[in-house]
Amino acid sequence: MGFLYSQFFRTPPYPTGNFSGKTVIITGSNVGLGKEAARHYARLGAGKLILAVRSVDKGQAAKEDIVRTTGHQNTHVWKLDMSDYGSVQAFTKRADTELDRVDIFIANAGVVRAEYHEVNGHEEAISVNVIATFLLMANMMPKMRETAARFHTRPTFAVTGSGAYTQTTFPQRSAPNGAILTTLSDRETSKKYWLQQYPVSKLVQLLFVRGIADQHPASKFPVTINIANPGLCHSELARDMNGLGFRLFKLIVARSTEVGSRTLVHAGASGVETHGKYLSDCIIEEPTALVTDAAGQESQKRITDEVLKAIDAIQPGASKKF
Ligand SMILES: NC(=O)c1ccc[n+]([C@@H]2O[C@H](COP(=O)([O-])OP(=O)(O)OC[C@H]3O[C@@H](n4cnc5c(N)ncnc54)[C@H](OP(=O)(O)O)[C@@H]3O)[C@@H](O)[C@H]2O)c1
Repeated sequence: MGFLYSQFFRTPPYPTGNFSGKTVIITGSNVGLGKEAARHYARLGAGKLILAVRSVDKGQAAKEDIVRTTGHQNTHVWKLDMSDYGSVQAFTKRADTELDRVDIFIANAGVVRAEYHEVNGHEEAISVNVIATFLLMANMMPKMRETAARFHTRPTFAVTGSGAYTQTTFPQRSAPNGAILTTLSDRETSKKYWLQQYPVSKLVQLLFVRGIADQHPASKFPVTINIANPGLCHSELARDMNGLGFRLFKLIVARSTEVGSRTLVHAGASGVETHGKYLSDCIIEEPTALVTDAAGQESQKRITDEVLKAIDAIQPGASKKF
């Protein structure tokens, strides 16, 4: 009921504000929610806007559209392939050396697949939505901390989460110690719970954001980290799914891409009060018991620990960048 109420009766407010002087980076911004969020930031005068995309050609087409509709003069297209950890590392190195500051980072790129695909030894949603996203987050922290210190400001790193996190029972949390992520990527287990695979990737995102904020509370950490639920929106996300039922459901229930993108602009513009928080319809919302009860808190600690170990395995010392 909460989901349908939100879809039909709540409309995220149209973004306002002035982002002049701010550098904004949005991943997965050649289409969908990322592109519309980028258009808002351009319209609101972002000092510098970076579209972080895996296809530079598609990014260039998005840039031309954004520039044509907003007149923005400082939009750039940078290559970032989230299915290649080397690309994530190269991107953050480039940000570190070429950018003066990073005020707002929207980690929006995400994937949902109709079938099991393995990427970097993990199921693709786990590799892209979780491990690459948090490797990116860790590697962006030094630049964002530096921005905070140099410009006496508080940057924000927002993750595009999803209310779909409630659509899993998270059976993999009963995996032995240190083995939740590998169980989530196990081919047979994934296939058994396939309809829960994308939701569980979004649940793991939420658990990690809460877990890392617990480890680095706002009083001691100069960057806000939050996670936003845009609601069910029209976009190209379900491009891999051809089910008529889902398409019909979406036709009736989904928001426009632009309306959904407002939640990302809001999350990126939000401050310290949103650190470690889940934002839904631009409002801080308490997650469900799956996340907050004793078992949820235990899962949060285990997931945070496992994700930090996973990024350290890719890049020794990555977890120390927070
Ligand atoms: N639409 C919804 O109803 C909804 C609801 C809740 C949450 N979300 C979340 O919103 C975010 C944006 O999705 P969307 O709905 O806007 O879908 P979308 O139109 O499919 O956009 C997804 C973006 O992610 C990029 N991407 C996917 N895999 C990538 C990779 N390996 N490396 C780099 N970029 C990659 C895509 O690039 P390509 O075009 O090159 O593939 C695209 O730019 C996702 O995190 C999704 O989980 C969506």
